[in-house]
Amino acid sequence: MDALEQLAQYEADATAAIEAAGDAAALEQVRIEFLGKKQGRLKDLQALLGTVPVDQKPVLGKRFNEVKDKVTGILDTKKAGLERPAVAVDGIDVTLPGTPFRYGHRHPISQTIDEFKSIMSRLGFDPVDGPEVEDEFHNFEALNIPSDHPARDPLDNFYLATARSGAGSPLLLRSQTSTVQIRVMEKTQPPIRIVSLGRVYRPDDMDDTHSCMFHQMEGLMVDTNVTMADLKTVLRLFVTAYLGQDVEIRFRPSFFPFTEPSVEVDMRWGDRWLEIGGAGMVDPNVLTAVGYDPEKYTGFAFGLGVERFAMRRYGVRDIRLFYENDVRFLRQF
Ligand code: FA5
Repeated sequence: MDALEQLAQYEADATAAIEAAGDAAALEQVRIEFLGKKQGRLKDLQALLGTVPVDQKPVLGKRFNEVKDKVTGILDTKKAGLERPAVAVDGIDVTLPGTPFRYGHRHPISQTIDEFKSIMSRLGFDPVDGPEVEDEFHNFEALNIPSDHPARDPLDNFYLATARSGAGSPLLLRSQTSTVQIRVMEKTQPPIRIVSLGRVYRPDDMDDTHSCMFHQMEGLMVDTNVTMADLKTVLRLFVTAYLGQDVEIRFRPSFFPFTEPSVEVDMRWGDRWLEIGGAGMVDPNVLTAVGYDPEKYTGFAFGLGVERFAMRRYGVRDIRLFYENDVRFLRQF
């Protein structure tokens, strides 16, 4: 056999031996035999090359390197294969890549609420919570909404069929977060600066801007010398902090039984105005009802629709998308 034939023989033998090796130990033996640096068949071939005529050396040297690289490659591949865990366990290929794990995250409205709280706390307003199931006193009476007021119509509220408060008054799902104003003022003396964010419920017809469950952010500030200018400043600061400097808002005179004067607040969205909330100076009747001296203290209050802000920020044209729980929608936030 000449040197070229010996190289071909070496390659064939090495390939067969590598294929036959059943485990890592056997393969290591094959490696020592065929690729060992101190002794072994590669070493013998190298010695043989030293003896061939000079004019054959370039061709044989090149071939020698090719064969060596090829055998090394086959051996490495086999080694990686043997080191992998058993391919099938109970019919499951455990070497297949796993399904990537998707992290969950908070609902976009919960994220919005967190952001609202953090903006308002920078403006000095502390967050407080109030109950979603309310009595008529906190949802209406203390807010200066008398018993014959249309806002108390059972058709406009979710009254609970059987539940009664301790005092025997009917209970309902709160229709506004203004209830929390009363709960805070009952317990606390001015100065007061709070926000309360949470769910409210109304049997409104559902459309692109109305849902029968939605969220409001109530704000309340009571102190000496609080004015309408403070209210407008806080609302403007809040809106621009959340939506950016270029957002236009406007105040329209309006009426709420618990504020005087009252305004409604709109923001511009393209070529239309979207109502974002109601606000005003706390009515002296309300201050009196909670035991404050209306000659000494004044205050402002506002109630904003949380979803409307998130819609504007994210360009969501239909409020119902937030509550259909379609993960393709929710994953985008
Ligand atoms: C109120 O609820 C008053 N409590 C606001 C208030 C607070 C006035 C403090 C004065 C002082 P209104 O019913 O307008 O007001 O609702 C306030 C905001 O909630 C609306 O401007 C709107 O942004 C949002 N909103 C009202 N109804 C819905 C609904 N069905 N779906 C989504 N958002 C709504």
